[in-house]
Amino acid sequence: MAEGKTAKLQLGGKDFDLAVLSPTAGPDVIDIRKLYGEAGVFTYDPGFTSTASCDSTITYIDGDKGELWYRGYPIEQLAEHSHYLEVCYLLLYGELPNRDQLVDFETRVTRHTMVHEQMHYFFRGFRRDSHPMATMVGVVGAMSAFYHDSIDINDPVQREIASIRLIAKVPTIAAMAYKYSLGQPFVYPRNELDYASNFLHMCFSVPAEPYQVDPALARAMDRIFTLHADHEQNASTSTVRLAGSSGANPFACIAAGIACLWGPAHGGANQACLEMLRQIGTVDRIPEFLARAKDKNDPFRLMGFGHRVYKNFDPRAKVMKESADEVLDLLGIHNNPTLQVAKELERIALEDEYFVAKKLYPNVDFYSGIILEAIGFPTSMFTPIFALSRTVGWISQWKEMIADPQNKIGRPRQLYVGAPRRDYKPLDAR
Ligand code: CMC
Repeated sequence: MAEGKTAKLQLGGKDFDLAVLSPTAGPDVIDIRKLYGEAGVFTYDPGFTSTASCDSTITYIDGDKGELWYRGYPIEQLAEHSHYLEVCYLLLYGELPNRDQLVDFETRVTRHTMVHEQMHYFFRGFRRDSHPMATMVGVVGAMSAFYHDSIDINDPVQREIASIRLIAKVPTIAAMAYKYSLGQPFVYPRNELDYASNFLHMCFSVPAEPYQVDPALARAMDRIFTLHADHEQNASTSTVRLAGSSGANPFACIAAGIACLWGPAHGGANQACLEMLRQIGTVDRIPEFLARAKDKNDPFRLMGFGHRVYKNFDPRAKVMKESADEVLDLLGIHNNPTLQVAKELERIALEDEYFVAKKLYPNVDFYSGIILEAIGFPTSMFTPIFALSRTVGWISQWKEMIADPQNKIGRPRQLYVGAPRRDYKPLDAR
């Protein structure tokens, strides 16, 4: 982080010098840490549209160029040449592993895929019709009640074990949430399978008959995991960091991230998008929904469109679209009405003046739902799959924060616009 430049603030007839920090990539950042102490003012930035909450070495997004890097590597290269567990290693430790490191890491993850048997009873306390995200928030949070030996955040060995446990067990928990909602028995992990195949096995196999994982579908699944693995300081990641800044244990922090991800403006958009496509139903109804999306008085938005940072295109969406085409070809799905609506909606929105002017492009969630539906997942499983993919990103960001000597509890300030100081009135005087 290069320093040297300064920005000047003039306030109340005084000048204040503010250091300007230059990142490896991206715009310069004005350092306002001493602003309140020296000038007695706060800055105001609801939604953190112009605020860097931390420094980080993990992920970089260039929203104008439509670029996403994990540890410097462009997402397109990783999606094509790497695979999810290698990407997990990269995000967690900063470098691509050599062969021995990869084998060791994969072994450590696969050895932790089973969950404590007592957790099965914990699941049984939920209603069968619970949303799997509701179950996941509860069960992942409850991991701190089962794995006491990895909740001391000051011990780097325990932090490491917690990280491996989370990456290994969250897919098992997501698959269990799905099986529970179906009323089917839980399926134990099979450690000879790769990460994505094992997840498909835990979701789709039943004890009554053999189940063969289709390698092409496993590859598509792995790519979905890879594309969602991290995305710098988005809402759920910031939630994980904020929760972690108080010293909360890693399982509690990841549960907080899952809760935040659930919202339809964030990870919940993949479910909301497919439900919207179904609601539109047929191509002839697209203009009606486009008109609603443009109407300021209608809260309806085109789900799967737009992004806070990407204002050109979402590079994940590009890869996801190719993957969607491959999966649909493979499964021979060509005349699916939802798919037809999706393709036509994409075509029209990309030419529509409103969407072009506001730089609203299909995001990753627009295509991921199409693939997941084709693989056989119900919409309620879309966000849990996002959550399991993002767990490594949350954990990497949490570890980076805990290891940072500058780490402080996160505590934003506010612009108070409530009542001025007033005195309490007794009940009969009001
Ligand atoms: N449909 C219609 N209009 C939209 C949409 C949309 N999907 N997204 C943004 N706009 C309009 C919005 O009304 C506003 O118009 P105006 O300037 O006239 O008030 C303008 O575009 C800017 O929108 P914003 O809400 O200020 O932008 P934001 O950066 O706060 O929101 C967003 C980003 C992703 C929450 C938003 O685009 C959205 O709600 N999209 C739909 C939900 C979605 O697909 N979310 C998944 C994001 S990618 C996966 C992830 O990272 O979680």
